[in-house]
Amino acid sequence: MLPMKILFFSAKPYDKQFFNVYNEPYGFEIEYLETHLGPHIVNAVDGQEAVCVFVNDKVNAEIISVLASKGVKIIALRCAGFNNVDLEAARAHGIRVCRVPEYSPEAVAEHTVAMLLTLVRKTHKAYNRVREQNFSLNGLLGFNLHGKTIGVVGTGKIGGAFCRIMKGFGCRVLAYDLFPNTDLQAAGIEYQSLEAVLSTADVVSLHCPLNPATHYLINENTLAMMKPGVTLINTSRGGLINTAHAIDALKSKHLANLAIDVYEQEEKLFFKDLSENIIEDDTIQRLMSFPNVLVTAHQAFFTEEALTEIAQVTLQNVDRLRRGEEPAQGGSLV
Ligand code: NAI
Repeated sequence: MLPMKILFFSAKPYDKQFFNVYNEPYGFEIEYLETHLGPHIVNAVDGQEAVCVFVNDKVNAEIISVLASKGVKIIALRCAGFNNVDLEAARAHGIRVCRVPEYSPEAVAEHTVAMLLTLVRKTHKAYNRVREQNFSLNGLLGFNLHGKTIGVVGTGKIGGAFCRIMKGFGCRVLAYDLFPNTDLQAAGIEYQSLEAVLSTADVVSLHCPLNPATHYLINENTLAMMKPGVTLINTSRGGLINTAHAIDALKSKHLANLAIDVYEQEEKLFFKDLSENIIEDDTIQRLMSFPNVLVTAHQAFFTEEALTEIAQVTLQNVDRLRRGEEPAQGGSLV
């Protein structure tokens, strides 16, 4: 069998580092493009049977039809979420789509905890302050997580890991999911309606996927259900929150803290060094101007363990598909 060619989009130095190592046993001919996949670059596909994409690559019907015309047989996502891919279009063109269904859910769950602790104990401010030799505590007052009620929306692999960690902090953990998990129930996680979770929790953390049913799940109505002074964390997908409504809730002080690792317009910003640029997106600038908002740039997955798993599983998925076999469980989307 001739070595298969794979064209990577949105490739960063760390992608090359991990994929080059784990490609050795497979010997795929990999070409890395830094740009994201979109109409401007799709014609660069030239003889590759597989393309490898990440969270902000545009894989809509129009792109898929060009990929199909160029002989692409496999779209390999090196991530878990697939809201950016038109699966129906891929099916219609006979293109297989695979993903990495699980790559260290703990990486994302632990980053969620890191963001939560940073916000509620203001360590981001303390870090800067002591570097200026300001050892005052004024303005750094936080609150204990022990004894607080945490509301978790979506208790799959990541949400489940987050629930268990928060239980270990001595929190009461309430959860909402379409499919309650009996192991989590046995561990003391209490499933309730979305409204009950939102209206009771001191901290709400989002871990459900983005789809038409969850788009703008957090909006002016659901924000109003939450307790005044609530802390909201989103490490799932930006489109779960109506950002304009969240800004209004921050301005009225109803929302006391907001931590986001994902943002609905992130594809124009995240994963890029824009430190010398003028940012045209006023919404993110407004968000970042709040002292009680913490933004990280889709970093929750970014651990050595997760990148190892991502590279190994992505390459294994492509290898299995080209041999006519199925990817490991949960890996096949089309
Ligand atoms: P998963 O598929 O294991 O769990 C998702 C859970 O959400 C399932 O239990 C499902 O029943 C539930 N769910 C679906 N629709 C729902 C709704 N309308 N309301 C409440 N619950 C609902 O997925 P996993 O691995 O836990 O990942 C969750 C999300 O995290 C992904 O969809 C992805 O968007 C995001 N993610 C973010 C990363 C980051 O670096 N920030 C990295 C990896 C994933």
